[in-house]
Amino acid sequence: MLRTHTCGELRIGDVNKEITLTGWVQRQRDKGSLLWIDLRDRYGVTQLFLEEGKSEASLIQLARTMGREYVIKITGIVAERLSKNDKMPTGDIEVKLTSLEILNTSKTPPFTIEDQTDGGEDLRMKYRYLDLRRTTVREGLQLRHKMAQQTRLYLDSLDFIEVETPVLIKSTPEGARDFVVPSRMNPGEFYALPQSPQTFKQLLMVSGFDRYYQIVKCFRDEDLRADRQPEFTQIDCEMAFITQEDILKTFEGLIRHLFKSVKGIDMPSVPHMTYDDAMKYYGSDKPDTRFEMKFVELNDVAKGKGFVVFDDAELVVGICAKGCASYTRKQLDELTEFVKKPQIGAKGMIYLRCEANGTYKSSVDKFYDEIELSRWAQKFNADAGDLILVLSGEKEKTRKALGELRLHLANQLGLRDKNKFAPLWVVDFPLLEYLPAGQAGNEEMGLPAGQAGRWHAMHHPFTSPKPEDMGLLDSDPGKVRANAYDMVLNGTEIGGGSIRIHDRATQQLMFSKLGFSPEEAKKQFGFLMEAFEYGAPPHGGIAFGFDRLCSLFGGADSIRDFIAFPKNNAGRDTMIDTPSTISQEQLKELSIDVKIK
Ligand code: AMO
Repeated sequence: MLRTHTCGELRIGDVNKEITLTGWVQRQRDKGSLLWIDLRDRYGVTQLFLEEGKSEASLIQLARTMGREYVIKITGIVAERLSKNDKMPTGDIEVKLTSLEILNTSKTPPFTIEDQTDGGEDLRMKYRYLDLRRTTVREGLQLRHKMAQQTRLYLDSLDFIEVETPVLIKSTPEGARDFVVPSRMNPGEFYALPQSPQTFKQLLMVSGFDRYYQIVKCFRDEDLRADRQPEFTQIDCEMAFITQEDILKTFEGLIRHLFKSVKGIDMPSVPHMTYDDAMKYYGSDKPDTRFEMKFVELNDVAKGKGFVVFDDAELVVGICAKGCASYTRKQLDELTEFVKKPQIGAKGMIYLRCEANGTYKSSVDKFYDEIELSRWAQKFNADAGDLILVLSGEKEKTRKALGELRLHLANQLGLRDKNKFAPLWVVDFPLLEYLPAGQAGNEEMGLPAGQAGRWHAMHHPFTSPKPEDMGLLDSDPGKVRANAYDMVLNGTEIGGGSIRIHDRATQQLMFSKLGFSPEEAKKQFGFLMEAFEYGAPPHGGIAFGFDRLCSLFGGADSIRDFIAFPKNNAGRDTMIDTPSTISQEQLKELSIDVKIK
């Protein structure tokens, strides 16, 4: 090694030792007679110093030629600092230089390599290798490494084996568009990059592997958001000869192990909530349960009193904001404006203030007297000083809008604490959802507009229906529940899975319900249905979004901070400048007849 120690290692006990360090020049302070240098590596920062009259003049001269981010090797004697810095682990000592070697020079970086950098997102992404020198970004990747290590440790202890599955495959229907790769040797034919290793892990169960996992890259061509990347990583798992309860227990165990080993948190067991209850009480299939604010339905006390808006509504439902009766008119108007935004879609909002003096003040006083309003308050168990907010309209839409209002309010009230963790199993998802023609969001599901207006697998087509609901498959498909579950953490879906269909007849039936002709089903999934004829065991599994899990553990809003080289919102890597055009020759070789720009 070129060094004897790292820049994060030296302590008061090392005083008087001769040591050698290597690293990057973080900053220099030149006071004339004294010159300080902060030397940084992956492990920390150590202060070096040179003193006019005491240090060799040539050393001082050389040091003065250095700029930020020069790569150097120094030897020196550890000394106790006169003014200690208790914010730095090495803050008790400094190193008096006896030799200095410049290993490489550096141009002045385009932004400061500090926690609070002056570089904007675009610049940092273009020079991501410099951004990765910053402590906060590096710590994100160190956390990711630890999470991966602990995941492997836990799953290995339960006899799971890691198997790699191919990346050049055939389309898997996870709901997004595929990225495709042309095959030179098979003109006009394409591979698809896996949206997940779903079919392969099921085939491994047919092969008898019994417990499989893989920390694996998946690729989805969908619109990007803070918690979505076109290539992302899953902790992908599958088990045979298990019940749904076994899966939930095993993977709740994984999450609790990660909380304990990575964050030192003893997580109690993870509560279960049905999909129906999640929608009814939170208006979302991924409720943030760090705080209460559950929905209370008011149809029985609010309808039939002459207020047409409520009388005409399928559902009147509200939330209670503790201690918010003092909200001003302006604050209430702001909340009304929020729910009326097109993406939220409510027509208006009603409020009821439970005043400190025990009276009630609402925006619909004309229609409801004090006694009637007190009945509303009772339904919420509201106290004096609380504020009740009510929306009404068509059931699903109103629940969704109120769910958004609940989160908006919780953000305002600081109820979404990043250091608090509330995992939750959401179970009994519907098997199918109906996507009417032209409905917004179809594109996101990977359906071209014209193809919409049909039943779509809510999880994926390999998910088994609950046997007791099978009878509804023809009469009321939307009511059929699936053996499907999601794990939700702080309002984010961190994982999802299901118990699979493992017989050919049911799988074929499912494909036909989803509108696949027998020929299409055979063409796309014939291999799986055939495998089911060779002794497929009952099986099921789950996949966690590894990047999302890391960002939640790290208390960050975006998964990008936990990916070494992420793509931007337009799906571009601006550092290597991709996607990019390829030459006409390459296109020709791939039998692709496109004129390049
Ligand atoms: P699903 O599609 O629910 O299930 O994906 C599993 C988890 O992966 C994460 N995720 C993403 N993370 C970042 N960027 C994305 N674009 C992205 N898309 C999904 C989410 C999600 O919960 N094969 C099934 C699993 C199974 O049934 O076993 C699957 O892929 O956290």
